[in-house]
Amino acid sequence: SHRITLGPLVAAIDQGTSSTRFLVFNSKTAELLSHHQVEIKQSFPKEGWVEEDPKEILQSVYECMERTCEKLMQHNIDISNIKAIGVTNQRETTLVWDKETGEPLYNAIVWLDLRTQSTVERLINKTPGRNKNHLRHKTGLPISTYFSAVKLRWLMDNVSEVHEAVMSHRAMFGTVDSWLIWCLTGGKSGGVHCTDVTNASRTMLFNIHTMNWDPELCKYFGIPMEILPRVRSSSEIYGLMKSGALSGIPISGCLGDQSAALVGQMCFKDGQAKNTYGTGCFLLRNTGSKPVMSDHGLLTTVAYKLGRDKPACYALEGSVAIAGAVVRWLQDNLGIIGSSEELEKLAASVGTSYGCYFVPAFSGLYAPYWEPSARGIICGLTQFTNKSHVAFAALEAVCFQTREILDAMNQDSGIPLNQLQVDGGMTSNRLLMQLQADILCIPVVKPSMPETTALGAAMAAGAAEGVSVWSLNPEDLSEVTSEKFEPQINPEESEFRYARWKKAVEKSKNWET
Ligand code: G3P
Repeated sequence: SHRITLGPLVAAIDQGTSSTRFLVFNSKTAELLSHHQVEIKQSFPKEGWVEEDPKEILQSVYECMERTCEKLMQHNIDISNIKAIGVTNQRETTLVWDKETGEPLYNAIVWLDLRTQSTVERLINKTPGRNKNHLRHKTGLPISTYFSAVKLRWLMDNVSEVHEAVMSHRAMFGTVDSWLIWCLTGGKSGGVHCTDVTNASRTMLFNIHTMNWDPELCKYFGIPMEILPRVRSSSEIYGLMKSGALSGIPISGCLGDQSAALVGQMCFKDGQAKNTYGTGCFLLRNTGSKPVMSDHGLLTTVAYKLGRDKPACYALEGSVAIAGAVVRWLQDNLGIIGSSEELEKLAASVGTSYGCYFVPAFSGLYAPYWEPSARGIICGLTQFTNKSHVAFAALEAVCFQTREILDAMNQDSGIPLNQLQVDGGMTSNRLLMQLQADILCIPVVKPSMPETTALGAAMAAGAAEGVSVWSLNPEDLSEVTSEKFEPQINPEESEFRYARWKKAVEKSKNWET
């Protein structure tokens, strides 16, 4: 049988919106050796609210770790070969816990949550010229329900436990990375309270030029700075695992999931880009050591900083709130599919939306519009339309949204992308990939190892000072294989459909105002 010589192994925790994964890679070949995945429950206590249970999130991480270790042992792979663990996570999702009891003080408010819509509108109305970009020069972000600061403000104003813990200096704030690292490194008995620059850049409290929490921003949102985690680079030893089979192993990589995917796709050069199809869909383009401000509704964000003494890299980002989430909606809310795999078959059975357009603006519209008051619509229906056409329109919606951000990206940089590197769960849908190439009119390239996000976090962890089992040299991983989808329809057809989509978007905007 085939004998593999194993080098040191590096693991990653990938805590996404819909599921948690633990994955173990061979640091010499980037080969994925074993993994385990657990779904995460989302609760929708009121219209527009989205919450998750912090303890369930933590539990899912432990479960994935245990099961993955069991699988490795079944393959006679010694888990003591695991030299480091990286953490990558859904970004912006906001948690507050009590540092003395270790207990979360409320559910995690998920990035998609709209409860702060009125606060956001009030904040924008108070700015000179009612300008949602009032804080963009420091944060790279528009004032929106999306980012952590307004969610944290809501928790302080509406949850008495949070208010009291803040007043008595017992509160800790964190995004999911901070919560996990704190718990895994010991929690109330000595856990490390930190985050990395990429996650910090999504809170709206972080100055992306000074690379520090910004006292003025904290004052603006009324956030006491003592509850914030310490900001570290994306690749350094934060602390050691405190319990379980992996006890003693350093946690030495931390990146928001979209940044991790950029690293995992080896987009280290200025101009390189990737698009990840998860719950949402996020296109990031590396802009090198300079933060570039968008004129077309994109965010400026910290891409990574791979070591304490390494320079920070920035990215332009086009964020789409709803991608995989529309599949779950078709399954859970409409019941027209029994599983996400059925969607491809259902849509392929007709091969067209038959003029049906579906704008899934469930959480308002993100890039390039930033319209919190937009709502979802399905339009262009006739007597002939059936569920297969709606399914097809849902897939097309993901592709049109990507087209909108790719156009914005091309306009901002002046250098059009000539192909798109993609990854994420939905890329296993071949119909979606073909549609994406058709609608963008450029080839779409997908790596054969789809867990790029986890790979990026593992690379950061393995390359950290004091670990150094992984080189970040793209040439060392030249064997990475990929699959290419070429556009198959003519550009006029593609433009016609895209123009129709734009019309549908206009109808979904300002629904609530
Ligand atoms: O900004 C939110 C993003 O990080 C969530 O990613 O993959 O869970 O949709 P995903």
